Amino acid sequence: MRVATAEVIRELDRRTIEEAGMPGAVLMENAGRGAARALREHFRGVLQHGPVALVCGPGNNGGDGFVIARTLHEAGVATEVFLLADPQRIRGDARIYWEVLQGLDIPIRGLKDDGISEDTLEQWRGASCIVDAILGTGLVRPVEGLYRKAIEAIGACRRPVFAVDLPSGICADTGRVLGAAVNAVCTATFGLPKRGLYLYPGAAHAGRIVCVDIGIPGRFLEEAGILDEILDGPRGIDGLRREPDTHKGTYGHLFVLAGSAGKTGAACLCSGSALRCGAGLVTAGIPRALTPIMEQKLTEVMSLPLPGNDETLSSDALTEIMDFASSVQGLAIGPGMGVNEETERIVRALWVDVDVPMVWDADALTLLARNPDLAGRQSAPVVVTPHPGEMGRLLGKPAAWVQTNRLEAAMNCSRQWGVVTVLKGARSLIAAPDGRLRINLTGNPGMAAAGMGDVLTGMIGALLVQGMDAFDAASLAVWLHGAAGDRVQQAVGPIGFLASEVMHALPGLFKEVMEERECSPSD
Ligand SMILES: NC(=O)c1ccc[n+]([C@@H]2O[C@H](COP(=O)([O-])OP(=O)(O)OC[C@H]3O[C@@H](n4cnc5c(N)ncnc54)[C@H](OP(=O)(O)O)[C@@H]3O)[C@@H](O)[C@H]2O)c1
Repeated sequence: MRVATAEVIRELDRRTIEEAGMPGAVLMENAGRGAARALREHFRGVLQHGPVALVCGPGNNGGDGFVIARTLHEAGVATEVFLLADPQRIRGDARIYWEVLQGLDIPIRGLKDDGISEDTLEQWRGASCIVDAILGTGLVRPVEGLYRKAIEAIGACRRPVFAVDLPSGICADTGRVLGAAVNAVCTATFGLPKRGLYLYPGAAHAGRIVCVDIGIPGRFLEEAGILDEILDGPRGIDGLRREPDTHKGTYGHLFVLAGSAGKTGAACLCSGSALRCGAGLVTAGIPRALTPIMEQKLTEVMSLPLPGNDETLSSDALTEIMDFASSVQGLAIGPGMGVNEETERIVRALWVDVDVPMVWDADALTLLARNPDLAGRQSAPVVVTPHPGEMGRLLGKPAAWVQTNRLEAAMNCSRQWGVVTVLKGARSLIAAPDGRLRINLTGNPGMAAAGMGDVLTGMIGALLVQGMDAFDAASLAVWLHGAAGDRVQQAVGPIGFLASEVMHALPGLFKEVMEERECSPSD
C-alpha cells in the first residue's frame, strides 16, 4: 500500500479538480460522506448513547466535518457542531457546507479564544463520540491558542475520538506531535493514507485507519511518483518459491563474519537465521581460538577458522577473508565481531573491495562510522541495519536526534553512504539511496531484546544470496522478522521470548504465508 505526504495529496487534489474537472466541493462531499460511513460502522451500537460532538476548524478539514455532521443528521444520528473560529474565516468549499448547515436543525456553537467553557466540556463529556475535524494536512506549525486548548480538552473528556484525515496536531509527513495532538480510536483518511499515520508517535494517535476513496482518478495515483510504501505483507516472497529441480547451490552461499570471545552467540544467531531464511549454504568466519566452541554450537553452518588474537579476528586474516568472499554470493558482517584497530582494518578493506552484496550490522557499523571517507566507495550493493545509536554514529548525530527524526535519519544515511538503510525500532524504516521509503508494520515490543538484530542480519544476508535486490531483500526480511516475532509473541506471551525462538519460527511462517498466497496470490 502506498502512502502520501501532504504535498503529494495536495497535488493529487489539484489535478482532480483542474484536470479531471471534478469540483472541490464534490471531493469534500465524498470525503465527508465516506468518513460518516466509517464512523457509523466503527461506533455501531454506541451512537444512541448521546449526540456526536463535531469539533471543527475553519479550513477544509473543518469543511469535511460539516459534511459529516449533515450526513449523520440525515441518517437520524444526533449531532452538535462546535466551531473553533469566527465563521467569517470559513472560505471556499468549506463555506458551502457551512451555509448548508445553517438551514438544518443541528445545534451549532461557536467557541471563543478565551478557552473551552465548562458548559462545552459538559456537552463533550456527554457525547457518544467526538469527531476531531480541527486540523488536517494544513497543519504547518505547532498548535497553539484555542486549537491547542480544544485538543487538550478533548483528551481530558475521555470520550472515544474519531479523527478526520489525521488526528489534529499530528504532522502528516513525519508523524510528529506539533505542540499537542488528539488521541483517536479511528481515523478516516482521504485518497491515500498520510505517511504520518504510520510513523510513531502519529501511529499511536491514529488508532484504526480507514482510507476513504474520494474520487481521485486511479491514473493520477499511478502517475504521482509516490516513493513511500507501507509494508503490509510479505512483498516479493513469491521469488523465494522452490522449484523441484534445484540443489543447495541454487540458493546461494552466505559468508558470515561475526562473533568474538563472549559474543559467539551473535555469530550463531546470524548464521543460523540465514539457513532458516533459505540460504543454501552458510559459512561463519571466526577467530581460530573460538573454533572449538563454534563447532560445538553449530551443526549445519560451516566454519572457517581465521587468524585471530585471543578475542577477535586479526588483520592477518584479511587475505583469506577476501579469497573466501570472492567465492560466495554474499557477506553478512558485524554482529559481535569486536571493535579494535585490527577489525577496523578488516572492515575498511572489505567495504571497498568486496564485490558481492553485503549486509552490515552492529560492530561493523561502529567501525564504518569511524571512517567517513568510505562513504560511497563500496564496490557492491550494501544494506546497513543500524539501531538508533549506530545510526547516530553514522550520521554524526546523537541517538536522541535519530529517534525524533527517524525518517530524515534513514533517508540521509542512504543518500550519504549510498546504501539501503534499515533503521530498526518500532515501525522499522527501509530507505534506498534513490529516495524510496518503506515503513514496516510487523513486530512488537517483546522483540526489544538481545540477539534480535543478529537474526535480522542473517535473514537479509540469506535473501541477498538468493538473488534478491538489496532494497527488496531488506524489506522482505524486515517484514518476515517482525511477523515471526509476532507469531512467537502470540504463542509465548509479550515478554521474555528469545531471538532464537524468532529464528525457529521462520519455517512455520514461510509455510503459512506461502499457503495463504497459493489461495490468493497477489502482492
Ligand atoms: N477537496 C477537499 O475537500 C479535500 C480533499 C482532500 C482533503 N481535504 C481536507 O482538507 C484538509 C486540508 O485542508 P486545509 O488545507 O484547509 O488545512 P486544514 O488542515 O483544514 O487547516 C487549515 C487551517 O489550520 C490553521 N492552522 C494551521 N496550522 C495551525 C496551527 N499550528 N495552529 C493553529 N492553526 C493552524 C490555518 O490557519 P492559518 O491560515 O492562520 O495558517 C488554517 O485555518 C485535509 O486534511 C482534509 O481533511 C479536503
